[in-house]
Amino acid sequence: MSIEKEIGKRRTFGIISHPDAGKTTLTEKLLLFGGAIQTAGAVKSNKIKKTATSDFMEIEKQRGISVATSVMAFNYRDTQINILDTPGHKDFAEDTFRTLTAVDSVILVIDCANGVESQTEKLMEVCRMRNTPVIVFINKMDREGRDAFDLLDELEEKLNIKVRPLSWPIGIGETFQGVYNMHRGELNLFEGNKTNIAKENVKIDDLSSNQLDDFVGAESAAELREEVDLVNGVYDELDTQDYLQGNVAPVFFGSALNNFGVQELLNTFIEIAPTPRGREADSGLISPTDSKFSGFVFKIHANLDPKHRDRIAFLRIVSGKFERNKFYQHSRISKKLKFANPTSFMAQDKSVIDEAFPGDVIGLYDTGNFKIGDTLTEGESFFFKGIPSFSPEIFKELQNDDPMKAKQLDKGIQQLTDEGVAQLFIKQPGNRKIVGTVGELQFEVIQYRLKHEYSAACTFISKNYHKACWMTTTDENQLEDFLKRKANYIASDKDGNPVFLAESAWLLSSAEEDFPAITFHKTSEFKLEQANS
Ligand code: G4P
Repeated sequence: MSIEKEIGKRRTFGIISHPDAGKTTLTEKLLLFGGAIQTAGAVKSNKIKKTATSDFMEIEKQRGISVATSVMAFNYRDTQINILDTPGHKDFAEDTFRTLTAVDSVILVIDCANGVESQTEKLMEVCRMRNTPVIVFINKMDREGRDAFDLLDELEEKLNIKVRPLSWPIGIGETFQGVYNMHRGELNLFEGNKTNIAKENVKIDDLSSNQLDDFVGAESAAELREEVDLVNGVYDELDTQDYLQGNVAPVFFGSALNNFGVQELLNTFIEIAPTPRGREADSGLISPTDSKFSGFVFKIHANLDPKHRDRIAFLRIVSGKFERNKFYQHSRISKKLKFANPTSFMAQDKSVIDEAFPGDVIGLYDTGNFKIGDTLTEGESFFFKGIPSFSPEIFKELQNDDPMKAKQLDKGIQQLTDEGVAQLFIKQPGNRKIVGTVGELQFEVIQYRLKHEYSAACTFISKNYHKACWMTTTDENQLEDFLKRKANYIASDKDGNPVFLAESAWLLSSAEEDFPAITFHKTSEFKLEQANS
């Protein structure tokens, strides 16, 4: 098969949601439709329980499971679907943000009773930054929830995106009868069924016909006609280009738990979702059809077996064909590497593959060569941009509790931060290590893993920082002056970039006022933004 054909049949995407909206359930149902799993319940174990903040065995177990479910690939109607798993737990938000750089589109799951929640907003901000196309699935329609028009208004308002419903609910909760698929002119009648996946939709060519009354009753039929009229009046027809540019999100209603509306979602998804896209590199846009192979690492799982210190680097292929046992260039360290056992993640089986194509994610066994964001090429020296570091929200100073193990501690914290568990900032004088995360859970994970994998003991001392900001300037002298004056609040990130550790929102905004030539960035992605502007 030609490389264009291979690209054309792939869809690589992520499912995002606020915890509990139904991401795991929907993922599972998609796998069920794709024949990748036979029973419900197989993906469920991937969830970090909300109460598990101190249950380290649980965390360890989850790390093991999440390798298997980090990427779930299956075939559906001649399309190869690659679902990239994004942890729902908010303390792992960084991991989710990074994974979003490796997808070409997302499905956003919303709970019909809760609407847009805090985590939804954050995740969508990341999608908006790179214009990732979004399809919305409003879930749990079998339960009482909010009015559909209200939900759509809220989506537009809070997520800053236009919406276009492609299906419309008939009733909700107790009165839920199903959905009318406006896209195809079909009626999908609800029947609470958690396992049955083969149900035919009823074709309704003309909504005004009495046929509709026969199925849903005169009252609901009249209401549906009125609402569909309103929808068609208020929302423009879906323009697929607009969706692909991330300007408008098609919306579906359903109930993942009941397998309801999932197949329509999947069918429309394979029809309109983007095929693998190119990525911006420092040398320009790398197109998937470029003949030479390239890809980037967006996730690393390390030390799954502490005895072997093995790591798996997850690489998203951007262009060309990847081949087993061929030498590739690791741009950052200018070294040639080849891989004897690259793995794919078809239907949850890890198996060694001989070749892979743009859009695919492969697992590369690694002995410590990779960091998150690394680029692999067929020889050229370029770097993919835009694996963002976000400003952490919690900062703590790492203190060594066992002076005999200083080296181990150093190595451990370097490796864990390479893996993306947390961010490391070095502060002078004294090379003090400030660890920044988005959640408390990470500190427990770090302490636990340093002890078990590196035999190092540490404690954390809380620091009162509000944000870590990267800086760019139009006036080098002003930046120099700032760095001198605020020396006590300056640290450097792992790449040596200076970072301002602002103690409060107020201090940050006064710095912005006093030093107008400096821009303070809350994500390291400013480099990509600059390149795009
Ligand atoms: P998440 O991954 O987004 O965190 O959500 P998850 O799929 O785990 O779903 C959260 C809860 O919502 C689960 O219940 C799940 O069964 C339920 N749920 C998902 N989709 C639907 C739906 O369409 N209708 C209804 N009524 N419920 C739905 P739980 O009690 O937390 O877990 P479990 O005991 O059922 O496993």
